[in-house]
Amino acid sequence: MANSNAANALDAEFYQSAERFFPGQSGTALTYDDVTLATLYSEILPRDTQLDTTLAESLQLNIPIVSSDMDTVTEARMAIAMALNGGLGLIHYNMPEKQQLSEVSRVKNHVHGLIQEPIKVSPDQFIGDVLARIEEKRFAFSTFPVVDEQGKLLGLLSGSVVKPRYAKRKVAEALTPRDQVFTLTEKKLGKNPIAAADKFFNDHPGIHKLLVVDDDDRLRGLFTMSDIERITSERAAQFKPARDAHFRLVCGAAVSATRNAFGELDRDRILAHVGGLVERGLDAVAVSTAHGHTKGVGDTVKMLRDAFPKLPIIAGNVTSAAGVAFLADAGANIIKVGQGPGSICTTRVVAGVGIPQLTALYVCSRAAAEKKVTILADGGITKSGDIVKALTLAQAVICGGVLAGCAEAPGEILEIGGKLFKQYRGMGSLAAMKAGSAARYGHTTADTIRKVAAEGVEALKEVAGPLERTLAQLIGGIQSGMGYLGAANLSELRQRARYIRVTAAGVKEAGAHDVVEVKTGS
Ligand code: XMP
Repeated sequence: MANSNAANALDAEFYQSAERFFPGQSGTALTYDDVTLATLYSEILPRDTQLDTTLAESLQLNIPIVSSDMDTVTEARMAIAMALNGGLGLIHYNMPEKQQLSEVSRVKNHVHGLIQEPIKVSPDQFIGDVLARIEEKRFAFSTFPVVDEQGKLLGLLSGSVVKPRYAKRKVAEALTPRDQVFTLTEKKLGKNPIAAADKFFNDHPGIHKLLVVDDDDRLRGLFTMSDIERITSERAAQFKPARDAHFRLVCGAAVSATRNAFGELDRDRILAHVGGLVERGLDAVAVSTAHGHTKGVGDTVKMLRDAFPKLPIIAGNVTSAAGVAFLADAGANIIKVGQGPGSICTTRVVAGVGIPQLTALYVCSRAAAEKKVTILADGGITKSGDIVKALTLAQAVICGGVLAGCAEAPGEILEIGGKLFKQYRGMGSLAAMKAGSAARYGHTTADTIRKVAAEGVEALKEVAGPLERTLAQLIGGIQSGMGYLGAANLSELRQRARYIRVTAAGVKEAGAHDVVEVKTGS
């Protein structure tokens, strides 16, 4: 016993808890590569670790990874893929507000168990109107139930007739009539609607849509076979999709603290837009700026909190305890931490301001615990080991650069010298600010015509294949880290982490060295 006490005391002297380590380094700002985590006794196999994380009461993720609200990272396609893999995508705001609304709709309508409010058409519409709506809302489907004004089912408009050649025909002429449409009544769904729908599709080969009606034949919902198949196959997956209470994929969207022509916060516009996002089922709004500890961001968060008492609000960015407390007091639930760590950021170079990320996370995490809010480690993640270190202090990480080369990120693929690349640019780069993100850096879009100092660069990332592949590498790394620390879940990871500083020689030793590398691990 004495021996093991001595051994533990020796370890504790070198490998210190966050509470001892970070205050012991006060006066020095540290980032991921400045420290390493110590191994601990473990009975945990990496594959058995749990990665679910609660960001706010109504926002739980199954993996602690969020894709950044940047115009070269997250639109609907990325947000769908992130949620399907258990994470969250934050749709950027460098686009017309109307488009952001439809991007959110695309995510929220993507896969459902029972689609409770299916998009319907009326019999006197023209097929051309239906086509225009599909285009406008960017629907990924083209079969619609047809209902009368009371919501009674009249038939089904099949995707096979929603074609430009039939544009001038009325829906009433082209629909599959009611008596040929398969339906189930709500009562027949029983306690396990997914199983009932699964059985229906088994029993009716070739039928891909099942409508649900009430006793008066009013439409109550819709099942699609592909949704049911996906849901049944998900049960086997370790990291299930992140869904809301209605079984829709989760989706976040960013907004800025927009100002009107008089330089005042544009309250009406922000409230109307966020109201539209909430109507579409938004799970979290992110008030996303480079400097979150400001009156404009505080006022925006307060206004949104008053208007939407239950909506999870993400706000930032900050790097101080006072910044966290300020945003939490304003009503934010989730605080973005990071000023200048991003791979495309030049804030620290241009403005001389910002804090290396691990120290910022420690300071902010302690303030967040006091205020009972959560934090997101935003920027500077280049490898899975960085995520493990970040998760010892934060509830999740936000990634830009490591996801920007994935197929689901927006943007064209370019070929340069036989290699394939995708564009990745800072939201504070001149090009992105001209496209709309100027408010994030305290400028107006008009300012960008004059000379303002960019705080980000335009860059390229090598094409990286599907998001699922990149996430599998990152998740594998997080699980390995947790196995080394004997942490079965993320809360244990936060409690058990022990830190020590490394020198430049230690950083060199950590990577592959003194070999001719022929194949990387990924
Ligand atoms: P990574 O390292 O994942 O960082 O590529 C993404 C994060 O960087 C922030 N961001 C910026 N910061 N100038 C900055 O100082 C910029 O132009 C810029 N653009 C993005 C943002 O927090 C993002 O999530």
